[in-house]
Amino acid sequence: MPAPSRWAIRAALVYLLLGFTAGAVLLAAKGGLGSVPWRVLHPLHIEWLLVGWTAQLTMGVAYWIFPRVSLRRDVSGSPRMVWLAFAMLNVGIWLAGIGAIAPRPLEGTVTLLGRLCEVSAAVVFARVMWPRVRPGLAQM
Ligand code: HEM
Repeated sequence: MPAPSRWAIRAALVYLLLGFTAGAVLLAAKGGLGSVPWRVLHPLHIEWLLVGWTAQLTMGVAYWIFPRVSLRRDVSGSPRMVWLAFAMLNVGIWLAGIGAIAPRPLEGTVTLLGRLCEVSAAVVFARVMWPRVRPGLAQM
């Protein structure tokens, strides 16, 4: 398994843990859990599980298992670009999550920056992976 995949999958597992913990706290808070405003965990729960866990796990596994070789041509793609996508996705997750609970007027700007990082990560990753959407050597 290539290094970017290992790190993306490890990071995804950390977000799974964070997201489930936040979900459990939100659930317990519904039954009354002191006067702490646990509701701030709501946007973080969503961000951690939908982007941090689901999207990142998919990207990590895709980079690992998509066909790397086309007839005598290596199409595995630049690991540097995948590291860039990995970094932008994770910066985006935290900016978008924190932006959703930041005080006004920071809220909008931070969230927007986070979403821009996430979209850029998706664009870079799709660019690297595009040539790898092809039959494997065994099917040629
Ligand atoms: C991959 C797994 C999960 C995903 C993708 C997910 C996603 C979401 C999303 C999108 C919402 C927002 C729903 C809305 O606002 O209408 C939400 C809310 C919530 N989730 Fe999760 N969730 C997951 C797992 C869990 C787990 C394991 C727990 C509990 C242990 C949990 C507890 C909650 C609670 C309490 C809310 C707040 C509901 C409310 O608005 O009162 N979630 N989740």
